[in-house]
Amino acid sequence: MTVKLRIGALASGGGSNVQSIIDHIEAGKLAAELVLLLTDNPDAGVLKRAARHGIPFAIIEPENYENRDEHDRAMIEALKAEHVELVVLAGYMRIISPEFVRAFPGRIMNIHPALLPAFPGIHVQAKAAAYGVRFSGCTVHFVDEGMDTGPIILQAVVPVLPEDDGDSLGARILRQEHRIYPEAIRLFAEGRLQIEGRHVRILGHTVDADRYMINPPLEEEAPLWPEEGKD
Ligand code: GAR
Repeated sequence: MTVKLRIGALASGGGSNVQSIIDHIEAGKLAAELVLLLTDNPDAGVLKRAARHGIPFAIIEPENYENRDEHDRAMIEALKAEHVELVVLAGYMRIISPEFVRAFPGRIMNIHPALLPAFPGIHVQAKAAAYGVRFSGCTVHFVDEGMDTGPIILQAVVPVLPEDDGDSLGARILRQEHRIYPEAIRLFAEGRLQIEGRHVRILGHTVDADRYMINPPLEEEAPLWPEEGKD
């Protein structure tokens, strides 16, 4: 029997990333078990998804605690009680405390809807569209004590179109989020991610260094080398 990675998820909103993780698990593509979902938001759509799939959940509202440290302590306790091995932030819209980060060293991931270190923070899909960048995307990274600063695991790139606003770009990015988050978790579950300072080494991976994207595409691809005998 394969040992399943015990995952705890933190989410504040609709939960489409949590859904994608559940779908990958249910399809047998991810040897993991979502043992606990925590939310800070009693109205979060993600709660319906958890209920539908029989995932245990708890609503831990910050209003019921004196400060962020106390609130995060309650979450740490709940996650530890379930022996969670990996914490995934999936649209969790609060900054977690240093104590939380230290409680799960090298065991917290986040997904961010931009190509970090560009556009950290919130509303970044609209910010990228407004800025005029030609590419944006999403980043899965380990969480450190900074905001969106931890070592990067995977990124997906999408083109930004002239007519894009935050919503259209955000939808394009979200489709890639749903692919790379389960992949990053799978690599973690297989023990293939090694954190070395700012770098995450992925064991058993090679990348074709000659592949590239240009947006907009070159109208006429210039040859890399002048054709022989032409001059
Ligand atoms: C996702 O786009 C995620 O990357 C983003 O919130 C959305 C949640 O969607 N997270 C952040 O902006 C974190 N700073 P979901 O609830 O449908 O997964």
